[in-house]
Amino acid sequence: MNYIGSKYKLSNFIESTICSVVGKDLSDKIFCDIFAGTGIVGRVFKNEVKKVIANDVEYYSYVLNKNYIENHKPIPDKKTYIDELDNLPIKKGLIYKNYCFGSGSGRQYFSDENGKKIDTVRQQIELWKNNGEINNNLYYFLLASLIESADKVANTASVYSAFLKRIKRSAQKKLILKSAEYIINGNQHIVFKEDSNNLIKKIEGDILYLDPPYNARQYGANYHLLNTIALYDNFIPKGKTGLRDYNKSQYCSKSSVKGAFEELIKQANFKYIFLSYNNEGLMSVDDVKNIMRKYGKYDLISTNYQRFRADKEENRNHKASKTKEYLHVLEKK
Ligand SMILES: C[S@@+](CC[C@H](N)C(=O)[O-])C[C@H]1O[C@@H](n2cnc3c(N)ncnc32)[C@H](O)[C@@H]1O
Repeated sequence: MNYIGSKYKLSNFIESTICSVVGKDLSDKIFCDIFAGTGIVGRVFKNEVKKVIANDVEYYSYVLNKNYIENHKPIPDKKTYIDELDNLPIKKGLIYKNYCFGSGSGRQYFSDENGKKIDTVRQQIELWKNNGEINNNLYYFLLASLIESADKVANTASVYSAFLKRIKRSAQKKLILKSAEYIINGNQHIVFKEDSNNLIKKIEGDILYLDPPYNARQYGANYHLLNTIALYDNFIPKGKTGLRDYNKSQYCSKSSVKGAFEELIKQANFKYIFLSYNNEGLMSVDDVKNIMRKYGKYDLISTNYQRFRADKEENRNHKASKTKEYLHVLEKK
């Protein structure tokens, strides 16, 4: 998934830095990805460590992580369920009603056909869950598969804060439900959906990886449609973009970020803490350094990173820009 702040392309840098500090053999370590987003960092460590704890305050992220991180045993017949969902007779529902043009909603986040397909698949998954046909493992696997597949055909520049006036080429393609494959392994992992600063008081482990938002863009607003697909609840969409009520993170505000960050570091019951942050964030490099070094042995590692900025209107106008990505390292006293 094309996600703001995704560490997909930086995962090798993160993995090698963490191993250079903690050691190559992580097989007895508990690793926590407390701002997990797409779950990509936890996925990288899932085979390396004893246990991954993944957490994010957003429900769509919880669903992705319940599948990619917590699911670790094979699910019999999962492909049969995907095929059945992919071939159901089409029904309308709340995505078509509120987010497609043909319903008269005035919004165009998906083509009419894809909006109805999302509704069809989403309703059937809930029906199976309610009548006991599927267990939680399969439920989150199917939901994650739907979220990923729907995101591929979304008619947006990149996030859901606005839709495009004309249906772009990738959004014209028919939604095909693709399996969200997860790593099979023998260990048990656990996923939470909590505010990081609450969860930190209840967990402990060896390696804490922090990847909070860097700027004022709230994830709940930018990915509201993924939450709506995942929750599939009744609410009144607001305004031109059909926004729902959303979480407001302390890490997205200049006035609260430093206080929240220091509290998180202070409360953390982990020996090693790694923070990803870039040089365009709400906290400066010095802000972070000054907070972290109060709590133990501090180090800073950086890499140049080419990132893509989404222009408002069109995907193809994405501009490349160079930023510096930092990994702040703390060995806690
Ligand atoms: C930079 S993104 C993480 C990206 C992730 N590492 C990846 O590669 O997909 C930051 C994440 O923090 C989450 N978040 C923001 N505030 C939070 C909070 N107070 N507690 C938990 N999660 C939070 C957002 O929902 C978002 O998914």
